[in-house]
Amino acid sequence: MCRIAAVSRPLNPSQVVNIEDLRRSAQVRIPKAVFDYLDGGAEGELTLAENCRAFREVTFRPRGAVAVHNCNLKTNVLGYEIAFPAMLAPVGYSRLMHPEGEVAAARAAGEGGTGYILSTISGHPMEDVRAASKGPVFYQLYLMGGRKAAEAALDRARKAGFSGLVITVDTPVAGMRERDPRNGMRELMGPSALAKIPYLGNLLAHPGWLISFLLDGGVPKLENIVLPGQGPMELTDVAAALAESTVTWEDLRWIRESWKGPIMVKGLLTGDDARRAIDEGAAAVVVSNHGGRQLDSVSPTLRALPEVVAAVDGRIEVLMDGGVRRGSDIVKALCLGARSVLIGRAYAYGLAAAGHPGVIRALEILRLDVERTLRLLGCASVAELNRSYVEIPATWARI
Ligand SMILES: Cc1cc2nc3c(=O)[nH]c(=O)nc-3n(C[C@H](O)[C@H](O)[C@H](O)COP(=O)(O)O)c2cc1C
Repeated sequence: MCRIAAVSRPLNPSQVVNIEDLRRSAQVRIPKAVFDYLDGGAEGELTLAENCRAFREVTFRPRGAVAVHNCNLKTNVLGYEIAFPAMLAPVGYSRLMHPEGEVAAARAAGEGGTGYILSTISGHPMEDVRAASKGPVFYQLYLMGGRKAAEAALDRARKAGFSGLVITVDTPVAGMRERDPRNGMRELMGPSALAKIPYLGNLLAHPGWLISFLLDGGVPKLENIVLPGQGPMELTDVAAALAESTVTWEDLRWIRESWKGPIMVKGLLTGDDARRAIDEGAAAVVVSNHGGRQLDSVSPTLRALPEVVAAVDGRIEVLMDGGVRRGSDIVKALCLGARSVLIGRAYAYGLAAAGHPGVIRALEILRLDVERTLRLLGCASVAELNRSYVEIPATWARI
């Protein structure tokens, strides 16, 4: 569990009206190196920007003079009912953003009636995270540390009662996030005090964050990657370990044998890959480009979504993530065939800004947005959303 009772600042709802307000609050509370790790994308950040821009390109076609009083926002993901169609995506190193990190996020998701996906790269033990939520909690698996470490993690996840697995397939190597080396992220997280010196200024300018980080024990270890005979992996070893542990379709086969519950494949952008995921036994796919943090210049996910939905043709569930900052974005994704979205930065900004209350506020903003958008569209239920409620640009119309 968290080594201190971390400070969770209350948020003033009249000042935190949208996700961008949470983003700005996060920028004030946490040091630049941590903020940029959260906010940034790969290389020229083209896909990062396009993910958000794609939502702006899709416009609504509302039905007038329709009275909608009680909107039904509920949906089902892999057999679990969620209160509104957004689950919390895996966000590695959440404990750097706030000491309660993954535990706070999972608890907020459960209280908000939705699901949480725990990253392999977690500073909190998976058992604590699972216990923090009354809702569904999924475990996102990377194969860092090799098959033995992954099998041990799957065993723990099974015993802890995780609801399903998420296999991320877009990370054969960590993307080049140019903000991180500029901020000395590796030096700041590494063991050498001397190497940190050039980068310390901005940390010292955020004493609130710094004190809570130090009281929490400093750089967290990765509690769920336990190397045989060595203990939990060090955070600075992640990049090298990732590069040695690409998840392949063959791996999906042995994972299926070790894990009897549902499996979601996250991080694909084409109909062909979605069909392959079905062949390998996936129960759901997440159309995702890792929030623009991996291969730059890939399609924005909203644009890739119709191709995947058409290829899957109702055989399994399709989710999407990337660039969701408003409830209207969620509604647009559902109109294009997603069963639910995942949100990454939208809740992580809240976590970084204020801990658990910040995640609660992010979920509240998005839920109220979805409800209002449905009423303005003249649609009573998320289950009724379809292509007729949106107009997509002609240049998208390959499908
Ligand atoms: C700081 C950060 C860390 C992330 N870590 C992981 C991870 O450990 N595993 C993973 O599958 N995806 C990871 N992602 C990707 C998210 O799960 C998700 O795909 C992405 O954030 C969606 O885009 P959005 O942030 O625009 O909502 C991370 C994203 C961010 C912003």
